[in-house]
Amino acid sequence: APTIKNICVIGAGYVGGPTAAIIALHNPSIRVEVVDKDPRRIRQWNSPHLPIHEPGLNDLVRVARDGASHDPAAKPEAIRAPNLIFTLDAHSSIAKADLIFLAVNTPTKTLGRGAGRATNMASFDAAANEVARLARPGTIVVEKSTVPCGTAKRIRHMVETLRPGISIEVLSNPEFLAEGSAVENLLRPDRVIIGSARTTAGRQAAAALASVYATWVPKSRILHVNAWSSELAKLVSNAMLAQRISSINSISAICDRTGADVDEIARAVGRDPRIGPHFLKAGLGYGGSCFRKDIASLTYLAESLGLPEVADYWNQVNVMNELQRRRFARKVVQRLGDSLDGKKIALLGFAFKKNTGDTRESVAVDVIQTLLDEGPVEIAIFDPCCREEDILREIDGLVPTPGSSPSSLPTVMRVYADPYQACEQASAVLVITESDQFRNSSHRINGNGAQRRTAAAPTTAKSKLSIFNPINRLSHTMTSRAAHPSTRSSSSSEVEDEEQQLVKVSSTLSFR
Ligand code: NAI
Repeated sequence: APTIKNICVIGAGYVGGPTAAIIALHNPSIRVEVVDKDPRRIRQWNSPHLPIHEPGLNDLVRVARDGASHDPAAKPEAIRAPNLIFTLDAHSSIAKADLIFLAVNTPTKTLGRGAGRATNMASFDAAANEVARLARPGTIVVEKSTVPCGTAKRIRHMVETLRPGISIEVLSNPEFLAEGSAVENLLRPDRVIIGSARTTAGRQAAAALASVYATWVPKSRILHVNAWSSELAKLVSNAMLAQRISSINSISAICDRTGADVDEIARAVGRDPRIGPHFLKAGLGYGGSCFRKDIASLTYLAESLGLPEVADYWNQVNVMNELQRRRFARKVVQRLGDSLDGKKIALLGFAFKKNTGDTRESVAVDVIQTLLDEGPVEIAIFDPCCREEDILREIDGLVPTPGSSPSSLPTVMRVYADPYQACEQASAVLVITESDQFRNSSHRINGNGAQRRTAAAPTTAKSKLSIFNPINRLSHTMTSRAAHPSTRSSSSSEVEDEEQQLVKVSSTLSFR
């Protein structure tokens, strides 16, 4: 297999950045250059404030550069590993690379044929086109992005058309990291899938890529398959994970109307080793840039292959997911007496899940929209990992449904840096992500040991404050259930009790 000395990663995002950092860390003899068309992203990677929030990433990037020092006085330029470079100069990076990872974004098409389901390959194809024009003969091209099946073959054709007679192998090597645990996942992957053409050149290229991973991944975890299997395996992997979430959420809807507790169901069912306990937590459903998109892509593939039943089957996973968050928001409205007029509602958590600042396809956006359908309301948002500008970009354009309420009050949406201020005077606090900070009541904040209680909580409490926590329901204290105006106490019927499952009420509010 060819020896790899120079790697170029195109796309300095959630996948490209961390992947490049780990490869550089474990392969000090390989120069890893990460390029992006967005100058801001590159600037941020070269600054002490990385563009993405991932536990361990800062340390990793720092350790990767100077071997140890966490010296805050060190110049940013002196922080990273000498073999990890973030640059805007795609041309020279591509031209000298032995191996090129394409890690650009591949969102769902919003216009044209297959809109809403098919993948928008504009960015990917633009990057592939640049590679086809500039790469040296013999360069290995690796699809790191999640792409439609058949893309490796299509890219090979693209190269052959643009540069006849040039041999460039295209491999599929999908990424399975989960945001919020990217570093951990990359350091200890369950598996690395390498899909290649079943030719000698294809196998040699796959062996070269495997040798890069073999510096830290046990050989038994590196699986060689054909390119189609590799591309499809990524879609199936996400579809299966999402399917478990929708499955348990569909059961939570049944539990809501009966005497069953969905957490008890999950515990009982998850004991079966054939099912397993993971990904069985009922909640607001999945958000983020991958699950919905990849299921849409799988649906589109099935449709294109003339398999409408298969398409419907997987599409229903996304349908159930949307239902869940609307159901939650409607329940909030109902519990607040079917009117949000003049009320303040606090949302704790905005990123699509905990430990990330990624706001793409945030569950909170759908919840807010459903609340706004009721008319003007005050929305207060706090998230420990998100930048204010990212939240504002996502909620920009959300407006109350015209005529939904006679109120002349304006809708206010504000991002807070302090969770207590966000919750001050709120009629309801919606816990959107399972961030550790929100998980338990009566905890410290800021980690400085000081017990801090909101000025608002004790005063707003007793009868006014509702905490809607679909995620960690059982650990919440419910001390003032009876005190809440819309909470019936001793006369609660079984059904009403079960209704409480999705909607918890608490008298005090404090954060870890
Ligand atoms: P991202 O949006 O964070 O990063 C993509 C980067 O590519 C952006 O910085 C963009 O400016 C850059 N880019 C786009 N076109 C370019 C071009 N022609 N030349 C140079 N740079 C270009 O995307 P993210 O989240 O890293 O996802 C990348 C791929 O990985 C997607 O296909 C996604 O489905 C897949 N994936 C994502 C995971 C995640 O957790 N975010 C996990 C597994 C796979």
